[in-house]
Amino acid sequence: MNYSKIIQKTHESFIKFIYATVMFQENDVKEKLNDIALFKYRHLVWLMQDAVKKNVRFNMDFDYEEIKKIKVQQECELLEVLKDDLNENIAFYEGIDDVTVNRLRNDDSFFIKELQKFDVEGEIISFNENKTLPETDLDENAKSALVFFLMEEIFKEYELITIYSYLKAHSDIAVANSAFSDLAYDSIYHLKRFAALASKMGVLTLPRIIPHDKYENIGVVEFLKENIEEEMDAEKQCLILAEKIGNEELSEFLLFISRQELYHGELLQRALNAIKED
Ligand SMILES: [Fe+2]
Ligand SMILES: [Fe+2]
Repeated sequence: MNYSKIIQKTHESFIKFIYATVMFQENDVKEKLNDIALFKYRHLVWLMQDAVKKNVRFNMDFDYEEIKKIKVQQECELLEVLKDDLNENIAFYEGIDDVTVNRLRNDDSFFIKELQKFDVEGEIISFNENKTLPETDLDENAKSALVFFLMEEIFKEYELITIYSYLKAHSDIAVANSAFSDLAYDSIYHLKRFAALASKMGVLTLPRIIPHDKYENIGVVEFLKENIEEEMDAEKQCLILAEKIGNEELSEFLLFISRQELYHGELLQRALNAIKED
């Protein structure tokens, strides 16, 4: 079984589905896609753990051309991209008899049936660069600050999901692993919320491939120390923007995120202590 390839395909699937979640308009569709995206994330984690157990090397690269396929104008086109993705994955599992892959095959076969029931015909506004937020009065300064913040944070959250998941797969310290899981799931939530705002404003940006030296052969202690700083910085950025934005609802949202970032610092400290004691 080609772990490296199947991990990459599942990783690409996860990105497509998590982005699609914020690109469609209808809540029913969004909810189902969100469920699929979270399952895709779990599939990815299981495959990575299996690969580590079998001593197979892999990385967190994806094919940018694959991800770019979601940059379409119409919801019906996006739906086709997602169906193709699942079908390709199902075809890739063919002939493999493995506990994890059997689960993936079972899940994807059901998901494709769910997607076939969708009836979508809306336009996709995620990339149209209109830079307005419906029902929200923002002055030009606040608007550019928000757009800049969203682009930066979307990249960063994706990077964190990737790195925390990779670290988790390669570490066997229970306390640290539980922190990495929580951090990855919180980052998925942050990514989704930021991407949803960016999508509404037409400034959604696709993720960048993470350089290997950000996660391969890095000292975990050093990484954790650096990321405590990063989480504190994220907290600060949210606070600064919350003050600048001049909109109560957005400020409240940013303050909520900033407090979560503070907690992320705590979680990393816990992981750091556990690793030092080990
Ligand atoms: Fe975050
Ligand atoms: Fe964070």
